[in-house]
Amino acid sequence: MVTISRRTAIASGLTVAAGGALGYGLWPGLDAYEQEVERQRKLIASEPTLVELVRMASLAANGHNSQPWMFHLDAQTVSIRPDVSRRTQVVDPDDHHLYVSLGCAAENLVIAAAALGRRPDLAIRPGAETSIDIALAPGPSTGDTLYRAIPHRQSTRSVFDGRPVSSEDIKLLEAAAKEEGVTLLVFTEPSDLNDILEFVVDGNSAQMDDPAFVAELRHWIRFSSSTAIETGDGLFSACAGNPVLPEWAGGMLFEALFTKETENEKYRDHIRSSAGVAVFFGAKEDPEHWIKVGRSFERFALQATALGIRTAHLNQPIEVLSVRPGFARWLGMPDARPDLVVRFGRAPALPMSLRRSVDAIIM
Ligand SMILES: Cc1cc2nc3c(=O)[nH]c(=O)nc-3n(C[C@H](O)[C@H](O)[C@H](O)COP(=O)(O)O)c2cc1C
Repeated sequence: MVTISRRTAIASGLTVAAGGALGYGLWPGLDAYEQEVERQRKLIASEPTLVELVRMASLAANGHNSQPWMFHLDAQTVSIRPDVSRRTQVVDPDDHHLYVSLGCAAENLVIAAAALGRRPDLAIRPGAETSIDIALAPGPSTGDTLYRAIPHRQSTRSVFDGRPVSSEDIKLLEAAAKEEGVTLLVFTEPSDLNDILEFVVDGNSAQMDDPAFVAELRHWIRFSSSTAIETGDGLFSACAGNPVLPEWAGGMLFEALFTKETENEKYRDHIRSSAGVAVFFGAKEDPEHWIKVGRSFERFALQATALGIRTAHLNQPIEVLSVRPGFARWLGMPDARPDLVVRFGRAPALPMSLRRSVDAIIM
């Protein structure tokens, strides 16, 4: 069931202008979109084939939903390789997000395989293009809490309900995210969240002033449900609580209303309504550690989903080179590179972001 609450919708400048006219939750193509969501959300029905495990992997978080991965299947091994044609060069010039995304996909695959009676053995293969091999042997079925969360995890880009998350739940999130070579810092004090907001606003302002950043983002936005279904990738308007429109109208509205001011205002509402912000650091600045960060984040997000807690990224302070060092100093880790900034809290679900079919991502 797709639900777009009014409060979610008014978080966005775009929606303020156009949402009322459309009616929330009554966008064109809703039925077809819901049917596709239902199909993509199915857990594996019986024996976990490698193809079905790849489908689970593809439901992972990934930058701009560009799905920058290809999967190679051997008898009992799945290799995950970068799809460089789906790089997002402007926001991610050194492929940091690309490798974090590969780590997220690998983690989904490992969790699904382990829940369904396979023993996954994951190896990162460094090289000009670092890849990940996951060998699967028969093994015991492990717990399925995170596995069942895979189809329901989502980046929820809406205003949250402002309630705190209990310290017991935060401990569960931290435990889920534990990964050798990755540090997690969790902030819940309003004064800390306010400071983080300043870095987000600085980063967002720089990105909105950069025509190349805006053009790249625009390239991945899908305004209509038919385009979102057809491409099976990108950032569908409804997944951010924005109005669903024909592509031509969405494009015009984007030019007119997607501004630095509306976006900064949106991030103020988003952070002030969140229970906390989690920051992930890899011990080193290389693809191997970015993959580890992705694995750690994906488990954090799946555990959050299992607890009814939403997550959404606020990566501007780590994406903008002029903002990142000051943010690292504020975090008390001046020599490290913070890898991900993620807010968490409670809110209704937004529509799921669709994925491409497995045929398109298996080599
Ligand atoms: C490395 C990485 C960076 C991301 N950066 C952002 C971001 O800056 N802003 C944002 O709203 N979402 C960000 N996301 C979330 C993706 O856009 C999201 O995972 C993708 O659109 C698929 O949607 P889903 O997470 O709901 O399945 C990021 C995800 C990853 C893995």
